[in-house]
Amino acid sequence: MPKLVIEGGKSLKGEIKLQGAKNSVLPILAATILSEEESVIHGCPNLSDVAITVEILNFLGCKTKFEGESLIINPKNINKNKIPEMYMRKMRSSIIFLGALISRMGCAEISLPGGCELGPRPLDLHFSGLRQLGMISEESHGKIKCNVGRGLVGNNIVLSFPSVGATENLILSAVKAKGETIITNAAREPEIQDLANYLNKCGAKIRGAGEGTIKIEGVDRLQGAHYSIIPDRIAAITYMAATAVTSGDILINRVYPEHLSSVIPIFEECGCIIEIFDKGKLRLIAPERLLSNAVIRTMPYPGFPTDAQPPIMTMLCAAEGSSIIIENIFESRYKHVGELLRLGADIKVEGRTAIVNGVKRLSGADVRAEDLRGAAALVVAGLCAEGTTKISGLRHIDRGYEDIEGNLCKIGANIKRI
Ligand code: UD1
Repeated sequence: MPKLVIEGGKSLKGEIKLQGAKNSVLPILAATILSEEESVIHGCPNLSDVAITVEILNFLGCKTKFEGESLIINPKNINKNKIPEMYMRKMRSSIIFLGALISRMGCAEISLPGGCELGPRPLDLHFSGLRQLGMISEESHGKIKCNVGRGLVGNNIVLSFPSVGATENLILSAVKAKGETIITNAAREPEIQDLANYLNKCGAKIRGAGEGTIKIEGVDRLQGAHYSIIPDRIAAITYMAATAVTSGDILINRVYPEHLSSVIPIFEECGCIIEIFDKGKLRLIAPERLLSNAVIRTMPYPGFPTDAQPPIMTMLCAAEGSSIIIENIFESRYKHVGELLRLGADIKVEGRTAIVNGVKRLSGADVRAEDLRGAAALVVAGLCAEGTTKISGLRHIDRGYEDIEGNLCKIGANIKRI
């Protein structure tokens, strides 16, 4: 079983170039099938979730080819409308192909995405929204068959919660529907804006993405486009937390600081100095000892991102003082806590609230990652823990971080994969 082995205590210093955003590239790759023309997606991160998405594109009949960090997708000859269960189980975000397939093919067959590590993740908002656009679905034997009858028709859709995935599925379905769709209480994440920017480059008419109300005027056809994925804000936060806990000093290249506006104040409260330069550069200089009495509530964007909660929790473990985290987005997002306790952390969880009492030092141990961002929390912990930390469950980290050990080694960490 592969493991990351970290000798903790090395101060991280140097420069890092951020990967493209995982949560942008997945829906954008699904969106490429809305057109019959070739698209080229630049800054495609090398992640296992991207590899699965490419497998799905190939399965559907697309031709795909990597040229360095660019992925060329030719969706002209798509001839399937089913996503096999194996892919649905491997990657929950394969659900995003539902909106893309009904838009391109008029019908789709999927199975429910596999058991999820963050607690129950219903799809009611996806389905009720898509039904309001005219999708008909029938579920039997674990398969869901969907079709659009005579075609999708724009509508006014109000989401009871700004779900990221539901907003993306609705955008994908509405861009070629007849007439106008208005999505109220839409998710405002930067990745939604990125998806809309790509689609608009293909000829879609989407206004308001990144705001609570999105207006989409349906168009008959889309062309292909060249498009660059935005940098990954959660990877940025992870590298910042890793630097903070090792009293380090890093310069992150290709970052959009405005995407980090709810998180930067937490680093500053802990005693880090953040400098923002032109051309997407951010420097973090960490103090000798972090201090924190933070109260963090995870919220939909522009609030504090749930995906940043695990690596930031590790930072709070290493800071003097007591901090509180309230996880409002996912029910089971504290699976990393038990493993952090093995490393000597002092955390108490009651329901959605975690109380983190900073400790003088964490000490290396064998731990196991149970989900993607929980894995990031363990890597950050291993970097500041005394002695050796061995992390298993690497399939989780490979879903979302491109060459994490290579990147960390470049800035002075002692980390290797065995
Ligand atoms: C996306 C991100 C994930 C991030 C999350 C919240 C991708 C590939 N993943 O996941 O990294 O943590 O946004 O920022 O972009 N919900 C319902 N019914 C639905 C849909 C969602 O009740 O139909 C609930 C979920 O159970 C959860 C909350 O809404 O409690 C947020 O989910 P959602 O925004 O949909 O997250 P994802 O799109 O799954």
